[in-house]
Amino acid sequence: MIADSFGRVHDYLRISLTDNCNFRCFYCMPEEDYDFTPASRLMQTDEIVQLAKIFVEQGVKKIRLTGGEPLVRKDAANIIAQLGKLPVELVITTNGTRIAEMLPTLIEAGIKTINISLDTLQPEKFFMITRRDLFHQIRSNIELLLQHKITVKINMVVMKGLNDNEIKDFILWTKHNPIQIRFIEFMPFSGNKWTSNKMFSLQEILAVIANDFTVLPVEGSPNDTAKSFMIPGHEGSFAIISTMTAPFCSTCNRMRLTADGKLKNCLFSDGETDLLTALRNNQEVLPLIKASIWSKKKELGGQLQTHFEKLDADAIHNRSMITIGG
Ligand code: 5AD
Ligand code: SF4
Repeated sequence: MIADSFGRVHDYLRISLTDNCNFRCFYCMPEEDYDFTPASRLMQTDEIVQLAKIFVEQGVKKIRLTGGEPLVRKDAANIIAQLGKLPVELVITTNGTRIAEMLPTLIEAGIKTINISLDTLQPEKFFMITRRDLFHQIRSNIELLLQHKITVKINMVVMKGLNDNEIKDFILWTKHNPIQIRFIEFMPFSGNKWTSNKMFSLQEILAVIANDFTVLPVEGSPNDTAKSFMIPGHEGSFAIISTMTAPFCSTCNRMRLTADGKLKNCLFSDGETDLLTALRNNQEVLPLIKASIWSKKKELGGQLQTHFEKLDADAIHNRSMITIGG
């Protein structure tokens, strides 16, 4: 069992397969020219599997693959196939571009839920956010997943003045489709131009939706990072991830392994523990994992406060989102 000093048991591991991505979302990538980590510094397939096994032996029940974009990694299929053999629930967060060609691999590995990042339903705005003209490809990939009865969750980062006017369109999408929209409060990371006035909060999101729809809360699972809701008559549902205004730290069970093999005990931790170097030097990894999680801070890596209006994003020490993986 892996626990922290506040009694939180950690049984959910997020593994970033790469810090590379075929999109260029401004809020995720740092502004300056970004050099992706060279392949030799990334965990290799066997190293990922070895590390994952250590976590699974310690009670990890769920593994999420993240990026950058996990499916742009050349050996992603092999990694997914190998992790699929472990006794865990395997899930993935992807930008959705490579779903069609990867679908057999994903199904074979037993992946039943896929989170797709999609911040707009307007092709031009999609291009503006991602710098790629792939909106229709992603929409058709989402259809493909639904045809194969795979659960689809859509991650939509709400940014004031950019896409907050589309909340209703996303909700309308759930009327005849069994998808869950996850509205995410915009969070500050290194180099992502976060300012508090770009934040659109849980309360604001709920108010917009309640203006047009009857909203009913849904009882969630203990470790959920999202508050879930339903709208009578809608096949799908929605949830809100309010990390900024109402964080979920008290029930956090998450650990993050970066693509270069560093363990982060919190999305907002300023420190990290190098598991990959230890593994390559034949050192014991488990004590490092236990020590890292034991030192986890109570809330938001000890770095953020929920009075986000006063938050100085430049004073936060962290990686950029693309090198963490969400
Ligand atoms: N704030 C909130 N969510 C973010 N994501 C990326 N950057 C941010 C941010 N600054 C989301 C992506 C993806 C998930 C892994 O994290 O949209 O869906
Ligand atoms: Fe790529 Fe996702 Fe980051 Fe966009 S948000 S650059 S799709 S990893």
